[in-house]
Amino acid sequence: MLVIPGTTTQILSVKVARSLNCTLIQTTVKKFPDGEIYVKINGDLSNEQVVLIQTISPPQDEHLLELFLLIEAITNLKPKELIVVLPYFAYGRQDKRFLKGEALSSKIIAEIIEQIGGTTLSRVYTFDIHSPRILKFFKNARAESLSALPLFADYFREKDVKDIIVLAPDEGALDRAKFLAKELNATFSHLEKSRDRVTGEITVKVKNLSVSGKSVIIIDDIISTGGTMIKAIEIIKSQGGKDIYVACTHPLLIKDAKYRIFNAGAREIVGTDSIPSECSQISLATEIARVLRQK
Ligand code: R5P
Repeated sequence: MLVIPGTTTQILSVKVARSLNCTLIQTTVKKFPDGEIYVKINGDLSNEQVVLIQTISPPQDEHLLELFLLIEAITNLKPKELIVVLPYFAYGRQDKRFLKGEALSSKIIAEIIEQIGGTTLSRVYTFDIHSPRILKFFKNARAESLSALPLFADYFREKDVKDIIVLAPDEGALDRAKFLAKELNATFSHLEKSRDRVTGEITVKVKNLSVSGKSVIIIDDIISTGGTMIKAIEIIKSQGGKDIYVACTHPLLIKDAKYRIFNAGAREIVGTDSIPSECSQISLATEIARVLRQK
């Protein structure tokens, strides 16, 4: 097995390759003076099983195009099989047409990946995809969303956080909170968040959460602007919550989100390296390696 890193996942790819004891193939990714991307694979892939790891972190469109070019360059070198690992599947929140006339972004991305990968593309892995519906947009390759939740459970167990309640930001995300709570022998509940489809503005309804004196973990798939977490922290604090841990698989943390979340009262922001940042305490490498080992 050969591992090819995209520019967004170099360290993660080294960790995966090390863990699998397999070769890391070098690439050249650069920009022409006019801003266009150039991609070259520096190795022989003929008849090999190849794993491409590229997360679609900001700037998403640029990293998507790099992904498409990498898949094209790889398939042209005739490997036996291509497995694509996309730790963060961008555009996942556009998983259906919420308003008439909207583009179905996540479907288009899945279709382009499959179109370029052709019959060489066998599997696509991602983590905690915003909506499982997206996986069905892949028609030929096996697409799977892996869970980072067991890694979060290990993290909080090691920290020895006591008397925990795990909260989901909305009812739709309750399964995530339920799973983590079970692993940590904790209670769980959910907030009631809604988003205006036109303005994007979030409203979080105040309800009794039974957080008084407790350690609170709010778990979400994505933190983008931080708006959801900040509203949740305000409600939790007003109800006497003690230590507030903000956790998510994909810490996009746009602009000053990190500062605003800490300033609102979070004790810690815990994320994974699906989006490499200083809040990426948890690495997905072991889980990626485990799945690749299984075949
Ligand atoms: C939305 O449905 C997602 O699950 C997250 O809750 C959302 O993306 C968080 O966004 P923000 O940090 O901008 O509130």
